[in-house]
Amino acid sequence: MQDIITIDGPSASGKTSVAQRVAQHLGIPYISSGLLYRAVALLCLLENVSAEEIEQHLGKHRLELKPTPGQNLVFLDGQEVSEALHSLEVDQIVSAVAARPAIRQYVNEVLRQIPPPFVVDGRDMGSTVFPQARYKFYLTASPEVRAKRRVPEREASYETVLAEILRRDQADQQQSAPAQDALILDTSNLDLDGVVQAVLAHITPAPGGPITK
Ligand code: C5P
Repeated sequence: MQDIITIDGPSASGKTSVAQRVAQHLGIPYISSGLLYRAVALLCLLENVSAEEIEQHLGKHRLELKPTPGQNLVFLDGQEVSEALHSLEVDQIVSAVAARPAIRQYVNEVLRQIPPPFVVDGRDMGSTVFPQARYKFYLTASPEVRAKRRVPEREASYETVLAEILRRDQADQQQSAPAQDALILDTSNLDLDGVVQAVLAHITPAPGGPITK
């Protein structure tokens, strides 16, 4: 078992904010795995090529994720692209990018090179990428609640954001099943602090290798 905490869940379930806060509380880095898929999606947009084409030429590019206390910085071929990863354009193509097996393998290799301890959020962190994680959580919330949370972060209406979330839920279904040993938390009726407290309540110091402060 490794000092890794996985926080998985569908889009806009709050997993990144929760992962950030939990990591901050524990004094360890957090990693948002979705950013790496978003960076590959951005590469498709910049080069005006399909996910299939990028999959074949991924070896030519360099993708790096640097966790800093406040945020994750993402570098594409040495250039920082973090700010450009959360547009509606990226949202619209990222699922197609993430569906390509060689792209998943590439992203998983980048993630597995990061030394623990850390908190990582995504879809399949607990089930596939870090099955040896010490703690696993899976956040859920209704699509309507998730859309309301996401609207302030996008230049789009509630209806557009909700439609996008429903489409992405469908497209991401395959890699989004919770790990069998994950704790499932429905966050529909909780605010951010409530979810963070619920997660921290399950994390206890372990003898010989505490993950907590
Ligand atoms: O978490 P976030 O919404 O930023 O992820 C963006 C997209 O990346 C998801 O919609 C999904 O298609 C993909 N993703 C994935 N596996 C992960 C993380 C993200 O397939 N572990």
